[in-house]
Amino acid sequence: MTRPRPVIAIDGPAGVGKSTTSRELARRLGYTLVDTGALYRGVALAARDRGVSWDDEAAVVALCDQLELGFASQEDGTARLLLDGRDRGDDIRTPEMSSGASQVSAYPGVRRALLGIQRQLGEQGGVVLEGRDIGTVVFPDAEVKLFLTASAEERARRRVKDLESRGIVVDHDELLAQIRARDEADSTRAIAPLRPAEDAVILDSTSLDLEAVVRHVLELVESCRSPAIDTP
Ligand code: DC
Repeated sequence: MTRPRPVIAIDGPAGVGKSTTSRELARRLGYTLVDTGALYRGVALAARDRGVSWDDEAAVVALCDQLELGFASQEDGTARLLLDGRDRGDDIRTPEMSSGASQVSAYPGVRRALLGIQRQLGEQGGVVLEGRDIGTVVFPDAEVKLFLTASAEERARRRVKDLESRGIVVDHDELLAQIRARDEADSTRAIAPLRPAEDAVILDSTSLDLEAVVRHVLELVESCRSPAIDTP
């Protein structure tokens, strides 16, 4: 099936700039933005709220069936996670929830529960989805697939800056250690590990600014909209 507007899959490790890039792309293209990591963070937060240990796989998976997860579109084109109808704001963004999301995301039952929501949100196209397995699992037929990379040090630096701008103070070295641990966990888990799809464009953003990355993706979008016409 061809969609009138493309699905853009932005995958990559923690702190690589997926969110900023995706937000800017969605804004310029007038597309919907889906931050799939927020769903895993939502599951981790809901578990903590209800006293369910992240170590208890069966209980966390059972919890997914009871949860109502969705997004509320904002005027600026972004979407906020709604957990049982409530916007929990930055409660899902703390380093603790980053670890919890990484842990619960390794459970096959959790991934299965969240797959349908992600596909539903993107199936019409005209959407930017950011995550870890969008190009490999959620939308293997995405028209545009970008896998962003950057050194762990650069990612830690960017993350500290981002959290500080939201009033969350963290230690750089501690965050770097967490990013490395999360990289290891996300890329070695048995199901849907973090890795580029075979047909993804891999872009190292360590020394690229936002504008350069966004322009690169816009060119990919443009080339998928107007495929080269063969001339005899
Ligand atoms: O993108 P993020 O930092 O908000 O993601 C939080 C965690 O959720 C991340 O450590 C791994 C997991 N995740 C995933 O497994 N698959 C996705 N598509 C998105 C996030």
